[in-house]
Amino acid sequence: MSVKLKACLCLLLATTQVFLCLAQKKSIDQRVDSVLRLMTLDEKVGQLNQYNGDFSSTGPITKDGDKQRQIRQGQVGSMLNIMGTAHTRQLQEIAMESRLKIPLIFGQDVIHGYKTIFPLPLAEAASWDLPAIEKSERIAATEASASGIHWTFAPMVDIARDPRWGRVMEGSGEDPWLGALIAGARVRGFQGKGLGNTDAVMACAKHFAAYGAAIGGRDYNDVDMSERQLWETYLPPFKAAAEAGAATFMNSFNTLNGIPASGNKYLQRDILKGKWGFKGFVVSDWGSIGEMINHGYVKDNYEAALSAITAGSDMDMESRSYKNNLAKLVTEGKVKIAIVDEAVKRILKKKFELGLFDDPFRFCNAEREQREMNNPAHLLVAREMAKKSIVLLKNDKQLLPLSKQTKTIALIGPFIKAVRDNLGFWSYDWPDDTAMIVTQWQGIKNKLGADAKLLYAHGCNIKDTSRAGFVEAIEAALQAEVVILSMGEARDMTGEAKSRSNIHLPGVQEELIKAIQATGKPLVVMLNTGRPLVFNWTADNVPAILYTWWLGTTAGDAIADVLFGDYNPTAKLPISFPRTEGQIPVYYNHYNTGRPAKNENDLNYVSAYIDLPNSPKFPFGFGLSYTSFQYGEIQLNKTSFTPTEKLTASIVLTNSGNFDGEETVQLYIRDMVGSVVRPVKELKGFQKVFLKKGESKTISFSISAHDLRFYNNALQYNFEAGDFKVFIGGNSRDVKQANFQLKK
Ligand code: NOJ
Repeated sequence: MSVKLKACLCLLLATTQVFLCLAQKKSIDQRVDSVLRLMTLDEKVGQLNQYNGDFSSTGPITKDGDKQRQIRQGQVGSMLNIMGTAHTRQLQEIAMESRLKIPLIFGQDVIHGYKTIFPLPLAEAASWDLPAIEKSERIAATEASASGIHWTFAPMVDIARDPRWGRVMEGSGEDPWLGALIAGARVRGFQGKGLGNTDAVMACAKHFAAYGAAIGGRDYNDVDMSERQLWETYLPPFKAAAEAGAATFMNSFNTLNGIPASGNKYLQRDILKGKWGFKGFVVSDWGSIGEMINHGYVKDNYEAALSAITAGSDMDMESRSYKNNLAKLVTEGKVKIAIVDEAVKRILKKKFELGLFDDPFRFCNAEREQREMNNPAHLLVAREMAKKSIVLLKNDKQLLPLSKQTKTIALIGPFIKAVRDNLGFWSYDWPDDTAMIVTQWQGIKNKLGADAKLLYAHGCNIKDTSRAGFVEAIEAALQAEVVILSMGEARDMTGEAKSRSNIHLPGVQEELIKAIQATGKPLVVMLNTGRPLVFNWTADNVPAILYTWWLGTTAGDAIADVLFGDYNPTAKLPISFPRTEGQIPVYYNHYNTGRPAKNENDLNYVSAYIDLPNSPKFPFGFGLSYTSFQYGEIQLNKTSFTPTEKLTASIVLTNSGNFDGEETVQLYIRDMVGSVVRPVKELKGFQKVFLKKGESKTISFSISAHDLRFYNNALQYNFEAGDFKVFIGGNSRDVKQANFQLKK
């Protein structure tokens, strides 16, 4: 038999076998094994290799004109940044020309929406509304999957206590308990009714782990922390994501206590795949395997591949370390084939679960794409989410809401007519999307109709120092009954590789606020940004402040709903706002220290700064409503209980203001004495309560020993008997308190 004929017969046999195994009703694991048995070492390595597409880039590009050939030869398992059914179909067709016809997975950063852009994740976290957050991801998944995407690199579940870090925008803030709940909601939202449904995309919990603790808030920087801090603060949202069934995890760029995350066996094999029993696969971050060379952890890409595969990184995003070295490592006996097989199996399993072996083009339906990418219902959901994300930070003399009958309103500032800056960092530019974006100007016009007299002045640019527009802005303010100033950061000022050492309002924006305030006109300031900013003068002098973050496609409408009282703000900060950069990190769940200050003025050899109070400018959990809420005293049904019992803490909440409204009632505890010290407060519960004006309601929380667990010095997660405090309030600072005891 000629060599050619032999090769043809082998190929026929192989592909027939793949299809035979598909035809038979075998379990996914059996089907994975049948495919694996047919694969050469090079094809196995190919499955672990992920490339960026040539359309757009979310990292440093490596020039490589050869990707299509490599796909055809079965040397690529996944692509990222390929958007749209036409493009994904084109590459999937090439994958179908490969010997074993193993389909590609298309991954994409779908972080806060895909075509319909939602508020950035930190803003959504301010809603404390888990069903709404889940729904937001559901829509993102619906659009992305209709556009050929199988996999989102989200949610980012990194705890962040440092607003200088540009990626603070992508997470849920500083609290591990709230962060864990939101992580679960996001995973459920992305994965919907489960992989295999064509509107579900694989979630990817990232960046494993502790990326949010980059020293100095500088992106990609190292992380050094105690083991207990890791478990207590940084791992809970990851654990929650794994428990919610996240199909994949992404490791991170940083080192953790001297070991790069991509080569970190303790994180990936011992914790994630071991202790937590994670069955999905781990993708590296962009180039992070190769970057272990720069870290000084490995000599070259050969060692990088050895380190990463041994540590449990299954897929190599854009390093080419696996592609160029893994087969050699196996043939030279440095890596056992079983380790490669395990990684390949994890990836193939997801391809089966997605249904791609049955139909590699099932996400390539152009008609569905057209429909879902332009589904007006998605905009309505986005507007709801956006309203829920806006935080009312200040409202002296009830300046807000504004009357819709206000005669003349001056709308001033670089954000009033901004278009894409409403979207935020992780948003793609679609050819037809500018028309969809509702600017703040348009939103307010939509709300007030043609008769409203709106004056506009740009005032200043976001970043530069020109004051040329001040005069026009002051003139507009002087003619108006009320002034709305819209300030903030450009969309590229907070995000990946966007750390800032100075987180004040950029340019001359604060000067403009001062100039407008000097006109004596009632003034509302809106802050559009991706992170907590420092804006002390504004906070102390301007009567009304709305933190509007970056709210996405429907920003203008959502903002108008809030400004004019069609929506009463409910959001609460998911992160403490510092008074200055020098106070960072400032977070509510800190330890007491041996010398706690008695009050803000106490400087008697206590743990304090001599030049500023310890407290943040705005505390975690803070956010006002147009109405006001009064809290009664905490009633406990008993003051001590055993580990098999439950305690009920109740409080009467009254809507004492002039509007119907919703309050987020928060419950914190403090374990007074522990075998390791415990934070002064830890969030352990919250309820969103809607009350009509004048209405009162008793709000009850059930507390069990289960809620009092923590990681002790041996890293065992358990409760300890003793004295506790319970706090209930509308933010982490203004709370009522009571004492109880957990008996042995
Ligand atoms: C690098 C980022 O850290 C990660 O979050 C993202 O998913 C990848 N680039 C892919 O864009």
